[in-house]
Amino acid sequence: MASSTAQSFVVLVILFAAASFSSVNAQLSVNFYSSSCPNLLPIVRNAMRQAVNRERRLGASVLRLFFHDCFVQGCDASVLLDDTATFTGEKTARPNQNSLRGFEVIDTIKTRVEAACNGTVSCADILALAAREGVILLGGPSWSVPLGRRDSRTASLSQANSDIPSPFSNLASLISSFSSKGLSARDMTALSGGHAIGFARCTTFRGRIYNDTNIDPRFANARRTNCPATGGDNNLAALDPTPNFFDNAYYQNLVAQRGLLHSDQELFNGGSQDSLVRTYSSNYRAFAADFAAAMVRMGNIGPLTGTNGEIRRNCRAVN
Ligand code: HEM
Repeated sequence: MASSTAQSFVVLVILFAAASFSSVNAQLSVNFYSSSCPNLLPIVRNAMRQAVNRERRLGASVLRLFFHDCFVQGCDASVLLDDTATFTGEKTARPNQNSLRGFEVIDTIKTRVEAACNGTVSCADILALAAREGVILLGGPSWSVPLGRRDSRTASLSQANSDIPSPFSNLASLISSFSSKGLSARDMTALSGGHAIGFARCTTFRGRIYNDTNIDPRFANARRTNCPATGGDNNLAALDPTPNFFDNAYYQNLVAQRGLLHSDQELFNGGSQDSLVRTYSSNYRAFAADFAAAMVRMGNIGPLTGTNGEIRRNCRAVN
């Protein structure tokens, strides 16, 4: 009797552990579409290759779309929804408006995926795969993308405004912003390496190049030529010296006090992330491995699975 009670207890503990393990892993799996949409990967890869061949920056823009999706309601494609007369999406949020780009690339992929596997693959999963392909095409690491996310029927303008970190943030607020999504300070520093590629508008780095003191003065002067103290808000500068190539020059730049955004330089400013930034600056492989692992963790933020949400027919609108 005593031993059968003990046995049932052990079984219960195992069942409970298995249940909590699967909820932590959010039921995503790498092979989710292997029988329902076997050509998904080549479709996404070819479309991304065409896009990046047309304009290298699109690899960066799609990566950023994925980040801005995952930080608002989880990775549920909420960022892709258009505003309508009766629906408010996230596109007019402060971090997104006049800034997010690459939506047309996702539309093209979705159209092709629908033609091959009608009503099967979510926009959220397409975005997760497209972001990885963009990174690979610009010379960065690869990783296996867990799949099975579903698309939201809602969006949150207010969460987009509050939860996407600002380029004026200090280190403590960057760490707490990522921590509130279940990501560590190390994940935050590795994921900031997304700024190895792409561009930023003058309005996001003006304060840094005119007011910050932890900046290489020659770098500040060079950036000021295309980002005046007033006006020119949309003039672009590269986030690192090699914006079309996913390398570790971003971290080398931080060590040289040439971070473009105030928030970038916060990662190397006498604080807790300095030693990790130094490691990444001298060891591309360490950065690439941490970035890939952190992308999987970011992709696991709050997905809709099972019967929650829907598979959108058009990524811009709920069904
Ligand atoms: C750590 C906090 C972060 C802050 C404060 C931040 C802020 C910014 C800002 C202000 C821009 C320029 C936007 C514009 O001027 O229109 C930018 C661009 C970009 N961000 Fe971040 N970001 C952060 C993290 C990330 C992460 C985690 C990723 C991806 C893993 C990422 C990927 C990118 C990319 C690829 C671009 C260039 C996009 C393009 O050229 O179209 N960022 N970010």
